[in-house]
Amino acid sequence: MASVLPKRRRTNVVSLTGATAPSAPASARFPGVAIYLAESRMGRSRRAFLTRLARSKGFRVLDVYSSEVTHVVMEQTSAVEAVCWQERKAMTAPSDRTPSTLLDMSWFTESMAAGQPVPVECRHLLEVAKPRMEFPSPAGVPPYACQRSTPLTHHNTSLSLALETLAEAAGFEGSEGRLLAFRRAASVLKSLPSPIRALRQLQGLPHFGEHSSRVVQLFTQIFGVGVKTADRWYQEGLRTLDDLLKQPQKLTQQQKAGLQHHQDLSTPVQQQDAEALQQLVEAAVAQVLPGATVTLTGSFRRGKLQGHDVDLLITHPQEGQEARLLHRVVGYLKNQGLILYHLHQHNHYGDPTHLAWQNPTMDAFERSFCIFRLPQSPKVAVAGAQRPRQAWKAVRVDLVVTPVSQFPFALLGWTGSKHFERELRWFSRKEKGLWLNSHVLFDPEQKKFFHATSEEDIFRLLGLEYIPPEQRNA
Ligand code: UTP
Ligand code: MN
Repeated sequence: MASVLPKRRRTNVVSLTGATAPSAPASARFPGVAIYLAESRMGRSRRAFLTRLARSKGFRVLDVYSSEVTHVVMEQTSAVEAVCWQERKAMTAPSDRTPSTLLDMSWFTESMAAGQPVPVECRHLLEVAKPRMEFPSPAGVPPYACQRSTPLTHHNTSLSLALETLAEAAGFEGSEGRLLAFRRAASVLKSLPSPIRALRQLQGLPHFGEHSSRVVQLFTQIFGVGVKTADRWYQEGLRTLDDLLKQPQKLTQQQKAGLQHHQDLSTPVQQQDAEALQQLVEAAVAQVLPGATVTLTGSFRRGKLQGHDVDLLITHPQEGQEARLLHRVVGYLKNQGLILYHLHQHNHYGDPTHLAWQNPTMDAFERSFCIFRLPQSPKVAVAGAQRPRQAWKAVRVDLVVTPVSQFPFALLGWTGSKHFERELRWFSRKEKGLWLNSHVLFDPEQKKFFHATSEEDIFRLLGLEYIPPEQRNA
C-alpha cells in the first residue's frame, strides 16, 4: 500500500514508528537533548509507544545507547540499579563526556506535556522517584491480553481508536510488525482502569494517508476482497463502488455477490439479527440431525451489540455424528430461501500442509461462508422509519462444524477477539511451551494432547485465571 500514500506523508509515517526509522529524525527540535528510554522495566511496546510520542513532538530519541545520550529515562528502577546499569553501559560505550542523567518517568511526561524538555530538577532524579500519578503503573498491567480483563466499554476509547487507526494504516502498508505494535498498545489502553491523561496529545498526530486508507477500506468491505486486490484496483484507477460496477469482468462470483449486497453487508449486524439467525440455523439443524447444537460465538458472544458477521459453531455430543452435517443444513436453509450465497470448505484435519497450521487466524474445520437472506420483522418497520423497511436484509454468516472433542478449543478460538486469541497463543507458547489453536492444546516436548471439556479447563491447563467472554474484548 505504500505506493499509494503521498510521499510527504509516508515520511511522517516512518518517522513515527520507531521500527524502521533511523535513531532520530534529522530535524530534531532540541539538539542538546538525546533521550534513551531504558527498556528493562518498560517493556517493548510501551517503549516503542513512548518513542513515537516523543519523536512526533520533535525530540531526539536514540534506539541504541551511546555516548551521545544526554537523558536516560527509566521506569520502576531504583537509583542503585540505575547506576549499575549505567556502569555496564559505560563499558560498552566508553566516553569522556559527562555521564548522562538518569531520570524518572516524571521528567519525560512533563516534557511531553510542555512540548519541550523541562529543566531537570531534583524530583526528576531516580534517587527521589515520586509516585507516578500520570501513568497507571505498568507493574499492575500484565503483558499478555489473556492475563487481563478487557471490557467492551473502557476508559481510553479515543486513544485506542487512534492507535488502531495507525495499526490499520500499517496493515495497509503490509507492515505486520508495526501493525502489531500499535494493536498491542491499543489493547493495553483498553484494559486500564482509568483514563490516561498525560498522553492526550497523541490525538494530535498527523492524519496520514487518509484518502487512500478510506478508499481501500471501502473496497475491503466487499466480501471476498482482500487488501492486495483492493490495492490493485486502486492502482488501476478504481475509486468508488460505481467504478467497480462498470467493470464487472474484474470480479469473481464471490466478489459479485459481495458487491451486490454491499450496502447491507457494510451495515452492522444487530444483536437481535444474530439471535434470529441462530434460531433459524437451530431449526434447520434440528431437522437434519436431532441433538446437534448451535452456539453463537464471535463478537456477539463477547457482548457486542453490533458486529460485522455472525459466527455459529455446530457440534453433536456424539463424536463423528457431525460429519457431512453441514451441506445438509445448508441445503435445508437454501430450500427455505434463506441463503443468497455460500461457499463450502471441507475440513483439512488430515492435511499437515494446510495453511490452518501456520496461520493462527485460520483453522481446518469444515465451514461455510454464507450470505443469509434474513427476513425483517415488519412490526419495527413503521416506528419512525424515514423510508420503508426492507422485507429482508443480507447478513454474513460463518457456519463452522466441530467434532465435540475439539469443541472447547473451537469455542475459545472463535470467540475472539483476534488480538486476545493471538496473545493467548503467544502466551501458551512462550510462557508454557504449549501449542494452542482452535483444535487442540499440545505439548511438543512430551508429544501429548490435552483433554478439555470446557473453556475453563483450557484456562486451567494454561495456568491462567478464567476470563469470561465479555472480558475478552482486547
Ligand atoms: P471475526 O472475524 O468474525 O471477528 O472472527 P469478531 O470478533 O466476531 O468481530 P466482528 O464483529 O465479526 O467484526 C471471530 C473469531 O474467530 C476467529 C478469529 O480469530 C476471531 O477471534 N477465527 C476466524 C478463527 O479462529 N478461524 C477462522 O478461520 C476465522
Ligand atoms: Mn464475527
